[in-house]
Amino acid sequence: MGQEDPAQTWNQRYQESERMWSGKVNTGLESMVSSLEPGTALDLGCGEGADVVWLAEQGWYATGVDISSVAIERATEAARARKLTPEQAQFITADVTTWQSPEAFDLVNAAFLHSHTTFDRAAALDTAKRHVAPDGYLVVISHATFPPWAKAHHESEDHDHPEHEATTPESELALLELDPAEWTVEVAELRARQAIGPDGQHATLDDTIILARRSVAE
Ligand SMILES: C[S@@+](CC[C@H](N)C(=O)[O-])C[C@H]1O[C@@H](n2cnc3c(N)ncnc32)[C@H](O)[C@@H]1O
Repeated sequence: MGQEDPAQTWNQRYQESERMWSGKVNTGLESMVSSLEPGTALDLGCGEGADVVWLAEQGWYATGVDISSVAIERATEAARARKLTPEQAQFITADVTTWQSPEAFDLVNAAFLHSHTTFDRAAALDTAKRHVAPDGYLVVISHATFPPWAKAHHESEDHDHPEHEATTPESELALLELDPAEWTVEVAELRARQAIGPDGQHATLDDTIILARRSVAE
């Protein structure tokens, strides 16, 4: 099987429905960021923009990046509908495994940055790490268990991508390779969450949650 074009694959997936995600902030992000002083924020794999919109409404100047132009159009529209200015909430269509900004951010969020198609997750997390400003925070939230409805979707497509593998706090920390001289890991744990599927199904899911703070440059 040849390599798929991830932008095209994700666009097709988004086009299957008018809205793919709940439109609500990820609870893991909310719990870890609510007490922080707002600054600049970057959300990698921002999807339809719910986390960016929430961050902007908390006072952050937030930028979302996603490979899907369809998702980015929806995210831009969601921010516009909430009367957020482009300075408060802006969106970029790009591949986060290679994308770079000259800017460093006070907060970088990578929430459920999993992909059912070609995806170098280690490179994406490296992008996340590299864009955290001194004294800034890195949030990584990922599936320790996948929703049963997502599994059905992937199996039906007969894909076999190792990126689908569930994470643990240990596997995420191993992938992130945070230098202890530069980073303090403040949270690395499993957290249970109640989730509702596209057909109203209920499930308890475990998320891997990482919060790390970069030290102030010497
Ligand atoms: C499971 S969704 C998570 C969306 C959002 N962060 C959330 O928590 O609802 C994964 C997102 O990653 C995006 N994505 C996949 N591969 C990507 C890549 N290489 N660069 C940027 N975004 C990517 C997809 O388009 C999708 O929006």
